[in-house]
Amino acid sequence: MRADLRTDGARLWARLEELGEIGAVVGPNGERGSCRLALTDADRGGRDLVTGWMRDLGLTVTIDAIGNVVGTRPGTRQDAAPVMIGSHIDTVATGGRFDGNLGVLAGLEVIETLEQHGVATRRPVSVAFFTDEEGSRFAPDMLGSLVYVGGMQLEEALDVRAADGARVGDELARIGYAGPLPCPVATPPAAYVELHVEQGPVLEDEGITIGVVEGVQGISWTEVTITGRSAHAGTTPMRLRRDPAYAAARITTFVRELTAELGATQVGTVGRIELYPNLVNVVAARATLTVDLRNTDEASLREAEARLAAELRRVEVAEHVSIATRRLARFEPVDFDPATIDVVEATAQRLGHSTRRMPSGAGHDAQMLARVCPAAMIFVPSVDGLSHNIAEHTSPGDVTAGADVLLQVVLQLAGAPDEAVGAAEGDRLPH
Ligand code: GLV
Ligand code: MN
Ligand code: MN
Repeated sequence: MRADLRTDGARLWARLEELGEIGAVVGPNGERGSCRLALTDADRGGRDLVTGWMRDLGLTVTIDAIGNVVGTRPGTRQDAAPVMIGSHIDTVATGGRFDGNLGVLAGLEVIETLEQHGVATRRPVSVAFFTDEEGSRFAPDMLGSLVYVGGMQLEEALDVRAADGARVGDELARIGYAGPLPCPVATPPAAYVELHVEQGPVLEDEGITIGVVEGVQGISWTEVTITGRSAHAGTTPMRLRRDPAYAAARITTFVRELTAELGATQVGTVGRIELYPNLVNVVAARATLTVDLRNTDEASLREAEARLAAELRRVEVAEHVSIATRRLARFEPVDFDPATIDVVEATAQRLGHSTRRMPSGAGHDAQMLARVCPAAMIFVPSVDGLSHNIAEHTSPGDVTAGADVLLQVVLQLAGAPDEAVGAAEGDRLPH
């Protein structure tokens, strides 16, 4: 019976649509995405909706001091640590309806399926959504899960400011999600599983349904501020300019050249450039840009960072500008738990799905949870590999396939009521 249990794909899809309507943005061709930047009113709307669904399902809902929300269904062994399903419901400003949302809502679907069929588990099963996974308003990304596992002090996280000056702690209080539970978590989950869209083209290209994620590549985010001298665009000879816009362009070009030199595992992006005063006939006074460097190999990522730093010094001298940097995020590559990866792979194959082992190019809350418990991820294909784009899409069939794999993985990790302690996944899981 347990092995035959399947989720209700239509019910999960309806929740994805309903959540996607909060902060909805519509593209030129009718694409429907979402803008729910962390700790905005739209984020509060999404949080209220999902927390309401948790309560409707009878879950015990807790909110911690950084705003992470966890809904828990009891197990037959109340003192056992839960198996946690999680992800995030904040989005980038041009977000789709699947990134993050799928992992959380599939978690609710797993619980509703267990409820509907009266299936008990030995361990509790919890569903979490973590604060500010995206990091596009408040850096670093994965802020809530980082604090949850003790990787950043709560006070430091509450003091993080957005480019618009807003402070995490103030915004959390304003939207009513500065919860009473202390952070970091006192007792980590027994295991953590996250279902996510791939956000890249590999699964679709190879015609594979389930990505078995082995780890997450390292992430390095730097904000670069270039200060020059504002001057008249018509009267200032080229040789006398100190032009931050030109310096920003040099750095942007360099990032692309660097990735070509370091090879396929190195990616690099200048995703934000701002000029001040940003006027047609004024040599800019200042430029701010961000550099996002990622690599599955830590040594290579360090090499990329060192090369960028050297280029910044070169541009500073050559262009007579001054350059200051601020580190926004830095996470080493993460390997997921081999035994839990095996459970995901074997389960997907038992359910008849094609599988492929792969690294994740995007950052995920799972990489933080991996610091405190066995963690793994399940990927499903993204149409055209698109994500962080309102056209992001995953087919209903693939969404259901991912949710079914999640359900069956969770059933194994959480164990049946009559299973001996530790029998589900060996004695390695803490009680
Ligand atoms: C965060 O989700 C990232 O990978 O940029
Ligand atoms: Mn995500
Ligand atoms: Mn994202």
